[in-house]
Amino acid sequence: MTLLGEDLRGKRVLVTGSSRGIGAAVGTAFASLGARVALHGSGNGDAAARLALALSAGGTEVYAVTGDFRNPRAVESAVDGAVQTLGGLDILVNNAGTMVGRVPLERIGDDFLDEVIDLNLRSVVVACRRALPALRASGGGAIVNTVSISARTGGSPGSSIYSASKAFVSTFTRSLAAELAPDRIRVNAVSPGTIDTDFHQRYSTPEKLAATAARIPLGRLGTAEDCVGAYLFLASDGLSGYISGQVIEVNGGQLMA
Ligand SMILES: NC(=O)c1ccc[n+]([C@@H]2O[C@H](COP(=O)([O-])OP(=O)(O)OC[C@H]3O[C@@H](n4cnc5c(N)ncnc54)[C@H](OP(=O)(O)O)[C@@H]3O)[C@@H](O)[C@H]2O)c1
Repeated sequence: MTLLGEDLRGKRVLVTGSSRGIGAAVGTAFASLGARVALHGSGNGDAAARLALALSAGGTEVYAVTGDFRNPRAVESAVDGAVQTLGGLDILVNNAGTMVGRVPLERIGDDFLDEVIDLNLRSVVVACRRALPALRASGGGAIVNTVSISARTGGSPGSSIYSASKAFVSTFTRSLAAELAPDRIRVNAVSPGTIDTDFHQRYSTPEKLAATAARIPLGRLGTAEDCVGAYLFLASDGLSGYISGQVIEVNGGQLMA
């Protein structure tokens, strides 16, 4: 039996969307366990580079790559950059994403549709495809995708395309788990509930968040740190080596509320 984190030491990990929020907490946790980590940000600011520098001061190898994931070629470049810098890849966490906006059906234009799908759906497929040779070369590995509670509930009004894109990633996760099992690559997902990050500063009012918190059985919104354990668990062969094609819901009981 492997104790938590033991087998993550020295693993080569790319966490996309790790300049802030859930991804930053996950990347920080991997680094603290001695993994070699590539953080990623959109390139809009240098938050990923600053976090990488701060974590490197702790003695672990942490790098930063950038790329606007609305562009599939930028996704490929970010994966390539991480693989080159780390000298291979063992774990891919596909976390970059956002709602882009709350837009009701009658106002959904083709450009908006493309943007939400490219960022939250196409980028995950492209990242997995690009990382596959490196994961195979390492003799197996783990992919952990970030989905959302809204993939199951449909989300709040105006989030239909975002929620459906996360449902796509949930199903893609299960399908890929079967397809990549012969390569000893496990594919799972973490599904956050309402997590108090910049995400909701952009898309939800304080009143909406307070009303949501009041309905959550555990009595509060989640934090980025609340999500970390599920990612580490699914990345660790020692802890979850016989688990593939699963989605772990991290929501304080919100799904049954
Ligand atoms: N917060 C929640 O309640 C919640 C619930 C369910 C699922 N999720 C999902 O969890 C993931 C992380 O969300 P979060 O709450 O941590 O949000 P966040 O704090 O807004 O962080 C989003 C991350 O994604 C990156 N990103 C956004 N747009 C991008 C683009 N065009 N190209 C490349 N990267 C981009 C951001 O990079 P920059 O900093 O460079 O912009 C950032 O690192 C997302 O996939 C989100 O959909 C969140």
